[in-house]
Amino acid sequence: MHNTLCLLGGTGFVGRRLLYLLSKQGRHIRVLSRHPQRHRDLRMLSGVELIKADVHDIVTLRQHFTRADAVINLVGILNERRDNGKGFHHVHVELTRNIIQACHDRGVDRLLHMSALNADPAAPSYYLRSKGEAEQLLMRARDLQATCFRPSVIFGPGDSFINRFARLLKITPGLFPLACGYTRFAPVYVGDVAQAFADSLDMQSSYGQRYHLCGPKTYTLQEIVEYVNQTLGLGRIINPLGDSLSRLQASLLEHVPGKPFSKDNFRSLQVDSVCPKGHHDLQLFFGINPSSMESVVPTYLLHQNDNRRYDRLRQQLHRLDQ
Ligand SMILES: NC(=O)c1ccc[n+]([C@@H]2O[C@H](COP(=O)([O-])OP(=O)(O)OC[C@H]3O[C@@H](n4cnc5c(N)ncnc54)[C@H](OP(=O)(O)O)[C@@H]3O)[C@@H](O)[C@H]2O)c1
Repeated sequence: MHNTLCLLGGTGFVGRRLLYLLSKQGRHIRVLSRHPQRHRDLRMLSGVELIKADVHDIVTLRQHFTRADAVINLVGILNERRDNGKGFHHVHVELTRNIIQACHDRGVDRLLHMSALNADPAAPSYYLRSKGEAEQLLMRARDLQATCFRPSVIFGPGDSFINRFARLLKITPGLFPLACGYTRFAPVYVGDVAQAFADSLDMQSSYGQRYHLCGPKTYTLQEIVEYVNQTLGLGRIINPLGDSLSRLQASLLEHVPGKPFSKDNFRSLQVDSVCPKGHHDLQLFFGINPSSMESVVPTYLLHQNDNRRYDRLRQQLHRLDQ
């Protein structure tokens, strides 16, 4: 039984969900964060220790992996500062290399790792390539029982996918220009992803495995954006852009603060984010019946004002903390 865990990326969208499950299972979890003061609410969960740490420093990793039974790595970025692959390499590949080394040095032999569908050293984007290289390091690591998870896009309260389109649709009057509307996704619910992580921790059959995590249905990006538009009753007209206009939109938007869309995102969208045929891994290996977008998305999309009030409250707490 892996009772004492060290969790990297535990303050994010997936991490918070997983932390809640692990805490309910009675485990002790050290969460390493660059900004623990922004996540004070997590301290209220039983068994959770929130620690300020630079996860890119191997000495720090060794220190916090001491006496841990397992490590979970959810750290990831979707954009880098410059479009040259170095940022992705640092956060996805170098960090994974250091985690493997620190596990080895501290005798930790169990590691759960978050990757992504289409992760491959030969993939079209820097993001997917770096995720693929990290997976290769893990699968080759000796004395380490690693499990990799490869989800399609993840939805749920607080996601940055459905919520982002909701925000963009609201501020775009009339015609909404959509890049790469042809790309297919199998959106998977954050609760199902977190459950698979939590269940696999002590599951010996998951050692050395890679799981593809998909929701029950596939949609084109255009269908997803149409669905958000309809759910919110906005009545926008979605205007799908062809390849060259999509690329142009990416080149422009990557200079906008917050990078709503980048050239590397465009390259990632050249491959469908769907599970290989017959890979219903959530059901097959974890007995999880994946939730559909239609059964979950309205529950948070239609209560965005409440969510925003909650976010403001968290920001106030954060200011009080400084
Ligand atoms: N969301 C999706 O649709 C999706 C789909 C496929 C795969 N994934 C993968 O799933 C993982 C979790 O995704 P998420 O949506 O939960 O992400 P998220 O909400 O952005 O959280 C990412 C976490 O990583 C840490 N982090 C971010 N940048 C970092 C950096 N430069 N150095 C060190 N730590 C950093 C942050 O922790 P602190 O700020 O507290 O340090 C944060 O808790 C990622 O690996 C992502 O690539 C996500």
